[in-house]
Amino acid sequence: MRKKIIAGNWKMNYCVNKAEEFVSQIKDTINTNEVDVVICPNFVALDRISDLIDGTNISLGAQNVYFEDKGAYTGETSVNMLAAVGVKYCIVGHSERRQYFNETNEIVNKKAKKLLEKDISPIVCVGETLEERESNKMFEVVEKQVIESLDGIENISIANKVIVAYEPIWAIGTGKTATAQQANEMCKYIRDVISKMYDEETAQKVRIQYGGSVKPNNANEILNMSDIDGALVGGASLTNDFVAIVNY
Ligand code: PGA
Repeated sequence: MRKKIIAGNWKMNYCVNKAEEFVSQIKDTINTNEVDVVICPNFVALDRISDLIDGTNISLGAQNVYFEDKGAYTGETSVNMLAAVGVKYCIVGHSERRQYFNETNEIVNKKAKKLLEKDISPIVCVGETLEERESNKMFEVVEKQVIESLDGIENISIANKVIVAYEPIWAIGTGKTATAQQANEMCKYIRDVISKMYDEETAQKVRIQYGGSVKPNNANEILNMSDIDGALVGGASLTNDFVAIVNY
């Protein structure tokens, strides 16, 4: 039985004080017994939020990382830096990073591997555009993203550490959710791709989230689908809606 994992991707919202205020408000009402809960604040708030959730079952996630260890990479943050402030998960390959910062599958793969060296779980995002879905290319596109982003990662890491997040780009921040059936169909397809890359046992263990306009009113249906093991939540993770989603 795969444990559900629900992660809040705050994107470029909430600086330190606001982040602290919000987490203080939700941390005691959020159900972390049956679900793994992760919050991914902005880099500048990571350290303070790390202290604040210490001793709770909420885990800290980052929204990005760089794949080099250290050196002249202005503006970048290494896995060691993330580990030092208690980061346990890190989103890689979010569609906004692919779109605005030219992140490719190869870069996503390097980042995921680097995170695993430090025992940080990568949340590897994949997903098709509206045009790709409308021209029925979505399976092909997502399959390529999965194969190239996970290339060379050993099966034990896939089974126990890596999280895949299926986020159709047309559903992110648009209020348009994929139907639970569409989301499940793709999550199942991703599991089949992983089974072909590795083996069925690994595929049955890997956790696959859905992301894209997850809200309290659709969380229950989505999270009860057979191949959806959690959610990556954007907008709704900034309000009490996040508590309602986790307590779905
Ligand atoms: P959304 O974002 O929930 O606001 O659609 C999801 C995401 O980008 O991870």
